[in-house]
Amino acid sequence: GKLEKFVDELPDMPVLRGYGVADGGRLVAGELNVGMYDTTWKFHRDLPPTRVFAYGTSKETATVPGPTIIAARGVPTRVTWTNHLPRHHFLPWDRSLSTAQPHAGVPTVVHLHGGVQQSTSDGHGMAWFTSNFSSTGPTFSSRGPYHYPNRQPPGNLWYHDHAMGLTRVNILAGLMGSYRVTDPTTEAHLNLPSGPAHDRNLVLFDRDFTSAGELFMNATGNNPGVHPQWQPEYFGAVVVVNGKAWPFLRVARRRYRFRILNASNARFFRLSLSGGLRFVHLGSDSVYLAKPVSSREFVLAPSEIADVVVDFAKASGSSGHVVLRSDAPAPYPGDPGEKPETVSVMKFVLPKRSPSSSPELEKKEMEMDKSAIPAALMEKNPKPDPREAVRTRRIAMYEYTKNGTDEPTHLYLNGVSYTDPVTETPREGTSELWEVINLTDDNHPLHVHLALFAALDQRSLRRAGEFRDCMRGNAADGAGGRNDVVKCRMGRHLAGGRRHKVPRQERGWKNVFKVRPGSVTRLLVRFKPLEEEKDGDQMTQGGGGRFPFDVTAGPGYVYHCHILDHEDNEMMRPMKIVR
Ligand code: C2O
Ligand code: CU
Repeated sequence: GKLEKFVDELPDMPVLRGYGVADGGRLVAGELNVGMYDTTWKFHRDLPPTRVFAYGTSKETATVPGPTIIAARGVPTRVTWTNHLPRHHFLPWDRSLSTAQPHAGVPTVVHLHGGVQQSTSDGHGMAWFTSNFSSTGPTFSSRGPYHYPNRQPPGNLWYHDHAMGLTRVNILAGLMGSYRVTDPTTEAHLNLPSGPAHDRNLVLFDRDFTSAGELFMNATGNNPGVHPQWQPEYFGAVVVVNGKAWPFLRVARRRYRFRILNASNARFFRLSLSGGLRFVHLGSDSVYLAKPVSSREFVLAPSEIADVVVDFAKASGSSGHVVLRSDAPAPYPGDPGEKPETVSVMKFVLPKRSPSSSPELEKKEMEMDKSAIPAALMEKNPKPDPREAVRTRRIAMYEYTKNGTDEPTHLYLNGVSYTDPVTETPREGTSELWEVINLTDDNHPLHVHLALFAALDQRSLRRAGEFRDCMRGNAADGAGGRNDVVKCRMGRHLAGGRRHKVPRQERGWKNVFKVRPGSVTRLLVRFKPLEEEKDGDQMTQGGGGRFPFDVTAGPGYVYHCHILDHEDNEMMRPMKIVR
């Protein structure tokens, strides 16, 4: 039957402090042990416990999503990740993909998304390990701990599985959690809503459940002759927030801060609020904006994080509740003209306006809210300057089909697979211009590890068809056509079409950007830290542009589409930073 909405209260995930406190209050490095467990989780009052893979400090305390790690800027967090998963996966892990190949067990490796860390601690897709490290991948180097320096501005990160070819099933099974880098010195004076009651992480994803309450994922591929189980996008009908299907949260008529992560495989959310409420954006992905930006609705792609304030004192009407909802088509953006369906995400329950409550009383309630929206946030972050770019790269996105069907078999970047030799070798301390050319019909959220980027502009291709034919020709001749692909994407008709505005809340430094179909998106990508030196308590910018570790060591980094079903099927490329 249908699940009733808004019957479970929104949970807060357990908190792990990523630092220690020495005598005298000084913060020192933190040591954490986080395991991955085969356990169950209650997604809804009326669903039986569902089998999941979950992060936690023990099997009994493991949750979906996993615990929220609170780190302090400049204070290292060391995490030993351990795998306690069984011999077999309970979801359809397609072995025909270019994937981890263990003797037995479920390969896992953890990536801190948005984290600035050495590649040996970055969760390289081939650095996977199974239970007890009984089987390990070719780039696996140590049992840990992973080292997160947290030498980066305050902001919102998340950790999740990144094992090659099974990220989509490992995250779907529950392997994800939130991570914050906090900084009392720069954040406290902002006077934003704070404390566990008024500053909450919201982790959104969509799932389907069988009638027995098990997670459902279609086990037959769209092109089973090529990939017996792989589907190009996973979409579920149930929206889950912090592990509960369509939960509710009781709120006061005051400001709240929500750090909203889209942890779905493939679903985009276009979020809005009932009751005439707006969002005030503080940050996008891992970095604060220079100034707050207000919006009535916004689109959140898989792996994007929106850091927003909502002021429930401004709710209009007398309904006593506000619904967070989404009307994004799936896949996104879908056919032009298609009328998208609106789905609920969660409900906020406001205190009753009882007959005895007077305007004075309400005024008092609002006055108790000492938080504010400051006029400026992090204005000191450097502004994107395209003149800084030392070179331009073109990255073409294309979906390959087979035998004249429309069903994709794999997705390549620049016509090459993940295992082809590395072509992106940016120099540490420089910035580059990446022109990302999307020749598909779907939006692909592009994520670059280590780097931050700013979206400069997006323009439709005047002759997308020509490029597409060119790419298709390469696919058909079966040669891989690497040089021809380069020719295709060097065509002179690049980006002569319509300009599309970068939404104001996405004009800061980000680590994911939605690359629209039939267009060229120009990104200014920074291969240097936003802040690199710590003089006393003062972090400064500029300088040598060096990372606080050897960025050339280890297996290197990657960039990829963050639709999990795409990154698992070759829409990912290696990236080596050079000096
Ligand atoms: Cu959030 Cu390479 O991943
Ligand atoms: Cu994609």
